[in-house]
Amino acid sequence: MIISESRLIIQQAMRAAFPQTEARVARFYQMQEYHLGWRDQQLAPAECDPGKLIRPQLALLACQAAGGDPAQAVPLAAGLQLLHDFTLIHDDIEDDSATRRGRATLWALWGLAQGINAGDGMFVVAHLAIHRLSELGVAPERVLAVLRRFDEVILEVCEGQFLDISFEGDLRITPDDYLAMIGRKTAILISGSCELGALVAGTTPANADALAAFGKSVGLAFQIEDDILGIWGAPEVTGKPRAADLYRRKVSLPVVHALATSPRCDELARHYTEGAMDDAAVAAALAVLDDAGSRAYCAEVAAQHHAAAFAAIDRIDTANHPGAETARARLRALAESLIGRQS
Ligand code: IPE
Ligand code: IPE
Ligand code: MG
Ligand code: MG
Repeated sequence: MIISESRLIIQQAMRAAFPQTEARVARFYQMQEYHLGWRDQQLAPAECDPGKLIRPQLALLACQAAGGDPAQAVPLAAGLQLLHDFTLIHDDIEDDSATRRGRATLWALWGLAQGINAGDGMFVVAHLAIHRLSELGVAPERVLAVLRRFDEVILEVCEGQFLDISFEGDLRITPDDYLAMIGRKTAILISGSCELGALVAGTTPANADALAAFGKSVGLAFQIEDDILGIWGAPEVTGKPRAADLYRRKVSLPVVHALATSPRCDELARHYTEGAMDDAAVAAALAVLDDAGSRAYCAEVAAQHHAAAFAAIDRIDTANHPGAETARARLRALAESLIGRQS
């Protein structure tokens, strides 16, 4: 399966997970399809940015690297992307974000209540996608094991989102607190995508552990790079507003770094705790971060997590499995393509 082909296959499986519906509830699903990039603001069919589809691609490749048939893992891949998209619908409400993937967010168009409803719907459709593993010959006990682990992973994501919101504007957050938060809100789903791909393959615990460790490190690096983009990213490439994390007083890694190391940390702390976070306050906070070298520091920490990911993936035993070595190389290439990403 090549990348462009797998993007198509993943999205087909996502579509297949949605139920046939009555006209009176059609808009409930159409709003979800808007978020997925399949409809425009008038809810007419469209082809907009569906996101990078990193997690489902990791799941398919992990399955293959663990000696399984990636075609069997397609429902899992679809479920993971739908789950990710559910978290984004609710995340945009929680973060008061009006723009994602270069378009208005679902709640910004149709209100908070319908945003919550649409997210809840997609959470369930994600599970329905995974149930379809049984239709591809995956044994019932294995489907149950996948669903159980999937739910454990989701609960950790919810814990992470709880911590993220709890940390806003809190200047006591330590690097350890920060790692505990991003490990849950982001890295666990990326790690879980790899681990669940391995579970569908029915591989050894050692291979599953190596793939989970690879995903965990990729996920930590991924969120740290998201933190860099959340402050310095170009809106026309990220599809998100400029410096959104500063406006929101997020305690992301650049801020944790500057608060701990900058001689101007009091100035930054003041902007994070007092008065309005307007354009002038954001510009002043940005100057402190730039002065402290926080961007370069974060890029270095992300690079360390990437290095750990490459060490973990070398531990997979690909012997006697046709295609497994190629899949390992593709996992490596996918992780490499994320280093210093712009979107
Ligand atoms: C955004 O994830 C949320 C984070 C966990 C940082 P992605 O950067 O994978 O978003 P899309 O799906 O490609 O838009
Ligand atoms: C990412 O949250 C984690 C989840 C959505 C679970 P962020 O709030 O950091 O991501 P963006 O920047 O909005 O994509
Ligand atoms: Mg968030
Ligand atoms: Mg957000």
